[in-house]
Amino acid sequence: MLRLETNRLFLRPLSQKDVSAFSEYRSDPDIARYQGWGTPFTEEQAKIFIDQMKDVVPGEAGQWLQLGMELKTTGILIGDVAFQVIKDSHRQAEIGMTLSRPYHKLGYGFEAVSALMDYLFNDLKVHRVIANCDPDNHPAHRLLERIGFRREGLFVESLWYKGDWASELWFALLEREWKELHPSQVE
Ligand SMILES: CC(C)(COP(=O)(O)OP(=O)(O)OC[C@H]1O[C@@H](n2cnc3c(N)ncnc32)[C@H](O)[C@@H]1OP(=O)(O)O)[C@@H](O)C(=O)NCCC(=O)NCCS
Repeated sequence: MLRLETNRLFLRPLSQKDVSAFSEYRSDPDIARYQGWGTPFTEEQAKIFIDQMKDVVPGEAGQWLQLGMELKTTGILIGDVAFQVIKDSHRQAEIGMTLSRPYHKLGYGFEAVSALMDYLFNDLKVHRVIANCDPDNHPAHRLLERIGFRREGLFVESLWYKGDWASELWFALLEREWKELHPSQVE
């Protein structure tokens, strides 16, 4: 079972005790705006989603794995980070992240994504990590750039999404760039 720890968070598999919190923040239209799911995201959908996650082997190519962000002080689920090792690529991964609105602007996203980067580069030995965001999703851009990601390209109206064309801004970070930023963490 994959568990990561930061100063303020446990990153751990989602469990059925998270159903209500997971459904609640995914049902927030502000949180879902640039994400693949619609609102409301019901508790039934949350149960099914969490149940499907339990069979995912961390690092299995082509399988997204969601890790819950649990606040150490309260045990509450405040968001999640997700990653997949990209199938048929050589040592490349893609990430995503979501935080419940009351926990924005407190650095939890930065803390969780940093721990995920350590895991991907140091444990899974990934060479390159990518992320894509809507061009208007400025909090996500800021978070990725604070981590060290580089803006690599804008794909214009490349995605049919929620009944309209959307563009994708792609970001990437290489293993050597991450290790240059965090020399003390290199194994
Ligand atoms: C993307 C998302 C996770 C970013 O959340 P966030 O709260 O802005 O990010 P962080 O938790 O890292 O917090 C960073 C902010 O807190 C501030 N902050 C406060 N205390 C901090 C600390 N101890 N450490 C770092 N930053 C801190 C930073 O200055 C920063 O503010 P700024 O963006 O105005 O410069 C959030 O907007 C979200 O869940 N959006 C909906 C889902 C989504 O669209 N996901 C992205 C898909 S690509």
